Amino acid sequence: TDLDAFITGLPKAELHLHIEGSLEPELMFALAERNGVSIPFASVEEVRAAYDFSNLQDFLDIYYAGANVLLTRQDFHDLASAYFARAAADGVVHAELMFDPQTHTDRGVPFSEVIEGLLCAMEAARAEHGISSSLILSFLRHLSEEAAFATLAEAEPWLDRIEAVGLDSSEVGHPPEKFARVFAAARDKGLRITAHAGEEGPPEYVHQALDLLGVHRIDHGNRALEDPALIERLVREGMTLTVCPLSNHKLCVVDDLADHPIDAMLAHGLKATVNSDDPAYFGGYVADNYRAIAMARRLDRDALATLARNSFTGSFLPDEIVAEHL
Ligand code: ADE
Ligand code: ZN
Repeated sequence: TDLDAFITGLPKAELHLHIEGSLEPELMFALAERNGVSIPFASVEEVRAAYDFSNLQDFLDIYYAGANVLLTRQDFHDLASAYFARAAADGVVHAELMFDPQTHTDRGVPFSEVIEGLLCAMEAARAEHGISSSLILSFLRHLSEEAAFATLAEAEPWLDRIEAVGLDSSEVGHPPEKFARVFAAARDKGLRITAHAGEEGPPEYVHQALDLLGVHRIDHGNRALEDPALIERLVREGMTLTVCPLSNHKLCVVDDLADHPIDAMLAHGLKATVNSDDPAYFGGYVADNYRAIAMARRLDRDALATLARNSFTGSFLPDEIVAEHL
């Protein structure tokens, strides 16, 4: 349709994408076989049927189980290559990929295998698809501060190839304050900062991400809308929110996509963006997210163009490169 063509044709940056969340069931089976790893599913259909979540933790349990098939640098390369091919088809020209090293190093997979595989695919994506990309090392917040420090130390040899650090996994009960010191250390190393906040957690966690982590953007941020003073602050600071409509629906952050607050965010003057989060698990890549939210909230082309523009101004690209994309 016209709308599909318009959305695909809009140059977009993807700012909230967990590369482990782009593991499609077909690749999960192929890697399970290649690596001799058993998975608790008999078929691709059975995997897809299990993707029926009532909250974030439901999803995370399956997402971490799926990641067990990833063992070698070739696996991480193949995973990211598949993502870039899908992203290119969707009109993504720049992607900032989150990866969860602890999900792999805790299973005995060396950090080097994870990151070298991803970096190799990123280089190929520039050559094959003209997509630029960068890496966001995300700490798992259900694990300890000490474990996050150890992960940052492991990343040391690659810090020139890591753009930012992030914070993901089970939000409630693991507030940003738990990681204030490790984020300070990351900032001292010149890394940019982002954190999931206000997905399931309260507005207080968004305040903490700003005050205690020094974030340059907020991943999700939906629940900030419950706090008028916080909205005003996010607008005043020009803070980008990396919103993920299909994820919000699948994880019951919103009951119905028709009730999604994306246009309310824009109306407040918040710098909202549209992203896929974990596209293999939530039923769509970034263009699917634009399409779904455009239909559900009757967004016009100006609104869609604003969302796409926000994805560049909210990126970690240098200002002069951002300007080239606007
Ligand atoms: N890890 C992968 N996707 C996530 C999400 N939406 N929230 C928290 N942690 C995640
Ligand atoms: Zn996420």
